[in-house]
Amino acid sequence: MSTDAPLVLGIETSCDETGVGIVRGTTLLADEVASSVEEHARFGGVVPEVASRAHLEAMVPTVERACATAGVRLADLDAVAVTSGPGLAGALLVGVASAKALALGLGKPLYGVNHLAAHVAVDQLEHGPLPEPCIAMLVSGGHSSLLRVTDLTAGVDPMGATIDDAAGEAFDKVARLLGLPFPGGPYVDRAAREGTVTIDFPRGLTSRRDLERHRFDFSFSGLKTAVARWVEAKERAGEPVPVADVAASFQEAVCDVLVRKALDAATAEGVEDLLVGGGVAANSRLRAMIVERADRVGVRVRIPRPGLCTDNGAMVAALGAEMVARGRTPSALDLPADSSQPITTVLV
Ligand code: KG4
Ligand code: ZN
Repeated sequence: MSTDAPLVLGIETSCDETGVGIVRGTTLLADEVASSVEEHARFGGVVPEVASRAHLEAMVPTVERACATAGVRLADLDAVAVTSGPGLAGALLVGVASAKALALGLGKPLYGVNHLAAHVAVDQLEHGPLPEPCIAMLVSGGHSSLLRVTDLTAGVDPMGATIDDAAGEAFDKVARLLGLPFPGGPYVDRAAREGTVTIDFPRGLTSRRDLERHRFDFSFSGLKTAVARWVEAKERAGEPVPVADVAASFQEAVCDVLVRKALDAATAEGVEDLLVGGGVAANSRLRAMIVERADRVGVRVRIPRPGLCTDNGAMVAALGAEMVARGRTPSALDLPADSSQPITTVLV
């Protein structure tokens, strides 16, 4: 580890995880996450006000834990980074206000960064500097996008995105109709391992006509409806719903489309490196399928370990450290939290 690489603390509060990470350059020193997921489970989704309050309570202890784990003092930091958006407005505000207070109190620069770009940057902590250029596929609870990335700190080129539900949202909704807990992704993943792919669910935006207009876009709402209809028909017939088989078949349909389009994007751009990030990148079938199919077409795949795919503070610290290393101008201390910050605004 180079001791002159920047020591950066990153704060993530865009949804229900209070994440505080500390990195030195591309070396991960601490990744502390306090989740309020259990407080939301009975509502079947994240309740913004509950999340904001939980962030407020968790912030100081999580920062303290991160410093203790990393073996650093706040005064040692070179910079503070924070997710400025996109995400839940109230939740983001807690992180942004905390980061401003830290930066101002310590007299250190502050970087307000994009949550989605941070999902890409985090891979550096595990696999070293990002290949330039690379194709990044971001699949989370709120987004599904294909991006072309050269220097992440300068911006990204969007190639395609979901036109309706995000991939993680589809997992969560299908989990709900199968009677699995929230958040559904990990439960569908687990159930699918016990099942067999027996149902041929639709692959959104893959027909020849759709590909003409939406080659790199995704659509998952039709798939979700198809699963709902299938389950309803079983229930109407008074037959038991084979939850594991439905989970496996649904998951196969999602992964098939994601992998096909990501590899098509890499091939079309003549780019040999593909990076996958966001909560859905923790999916075991997606990880296995993409590695196997990419190998066949000569594309290299990088996916962070599952714990770094779901929301965390280390990803924000990683992007912050990259901003420092590339000499980017820090954010103003009055930077806003922007709940709909576009993917193209990597630094505010
Ligand atoms: O990136 P993330 O932690 O938060 C957002 O920025 O949205 O992603 C959360 C999403 C949720 O929809 C969750 O169900 C999904 O990621 N997810 C998974 C898995 N683990 C988390 N989806 C499928 N399989 C998984 N193993
Ligand atoms: Zn995320």
